[in-house]
Amino acid sequence: KQILVIHGPNLNLLGSREPEIYGALTLPQINADLAEIAANAGAELKSFQSNHEGELVDRIQAARTDGCQFIIINPAAYTHTSVAMRDALAAVALPFVEVHLSNVHKREAFRHHSYFSDLAEGVICGLGAQGYRAALAFALSKLG
Ligand code: DQA
Repeated sequence: KQILVIHGPNLNLLGSREPEIYGALTLPQINADLAEIAANAGAELKSFQSNHEGELVDRIQAARTDGCQFIIINPAAYTHTSVAMRDALAAVALPFVEVHLSNVHKREAFRHHSYFSDLAEGVICGLGAQGYRAALAFALSKLG
């Protein structure tokens, strides 16, 4: 079982970036936690972060042929702007869950729209890093 978690722009700064909104955990801590949970369930979790839209599109495309069966993605600011990443996810046709650390619906209006949600299996927001764990638990149960 192979699961890919993709983190969009500025999420490399987690831990120091607006911790009152995004929490105190760093991205390596979140990824290590998820990798351990996956390994204990007999699955493999790969993670990828980029601040560049084209690199994110390339990584999503690569998931089509690298054995990945499920994607967990926090597109970060690209949630609200990226038709290109949406199209890449539609092209690879793998099931995915969209995760946001913060509750985007109680923030600025421009964060209320997502280019991903209507393609996603589900959307989790506002649970902080626990949202990734919930998405992973769902992916693991889906993959059986
Ligand atoms: C975010 C919410 C986005 O609106 C924002 O641009 C981010 C992070 C979140 O995880 O809460 O960078 O996706």
